Amino acid sequence: MTEAVAIAQVELVGGAVATIERHAEVASTNALMRERFVEGRERFAPYSAIATGSQPDGRGRLEREWVAPPGQSLALSVYVELDAAIARDALGWVSLAAGLAVTDALAGLADDAPSRVRVKWPNDVLVDGRKVCGVLGELLGVVDGGRAFACVVGIGVNTAMPADSLPTPTSTSLQVAGLIGVGPRDDEWSPGSDALAAAIVRALAVRLDRLVERGGDAKASGLRDELLRCCSTIGERVRVSLPDGGTLEGTATGIGDGGELEVRLASGEVRRLQVGDVEHVRAASGEWR
Ligand code: BTN
Repeated sequence: MTEAVAIAQVELVGGAVATIERHAEVASTNALMRERFVEGRERFAPYSAIATGSQPDGRGRLEREWVAPPGQSLALSVYVELDAAIARDALGWVSLAAGLAVTDALAGLADDAPSRVRVKWPNDVLVDGRKVCGVLGELLGVVDGGRAFACVVGIGVNTAMPADSLPTPTSTSLQVAGLIGVGPRDDEWSPGSDALAAAIVRALAVRLDRLVERGGDAKASGLRDELLRCCSTIGERVRVSLPDGGTLEGTATGIGDGGELEVRLASGEVRRLQVGDVEHVRAASGEWR
């Protein structure tokens, strides 16, 4: 197990404090949190986090990899607990809230950032329509004799990644988008990552605490409205790759109570999708992105 090279304390709204451990390199921050929770029987304080700027074996959604070369990105895993009584309604919203938390954190980086940063359902964060951040939420297990669920919310942000290192033609980084300058960095930690990690943890805690206060009701907590406001998928023609290998095409018309994407097919039938990989069609070129 890697030793933390720095520990930051983040004051959350409401006065609680969360700890962010920064490591020089971690194969996968989600995997490390799972290992410590499952094998080490370690119960983290709510919103405690493990972070690194170098993640050679990171994991993405739908079994993809998410590799972070040193000094170019932030890999952050946040520990979350949810009371079992509200988990049925709230669990799906944990990783959706993470995308919104990142959007909120990035909005503070520049005057024009709020209009450039959007969420692509379910929780990719885009700058100018290009992916800058991905989220992978995973269940770790139960605590308190089954009365609460423990989860890890993994967040990867391309921070100082130069254009020629971007993983796909539809990716970007904060640096490429001009939201951070090219600053000095140490070998594995990119500039601004401490502040960014703290801002994300704080913004996530605000949203999830509010969701818990409202008994897991995303509508009452404002989370669903926030997603509708920030989600560039709504109103778009979409092609969705489904976990069973199938695809469907239609128009994204809304977000359900559980955070699912509502897609109206050409036949008029509305499908509610809980998982899937969405591409937006670009009207002018017909290109999918
Ligand atoms: C995606 O496919 O878009 C989700 C990417 C999630 C990557 C993050 S980086 C921190 C955490 N640790 C991992 O191994 N994966 C997540």
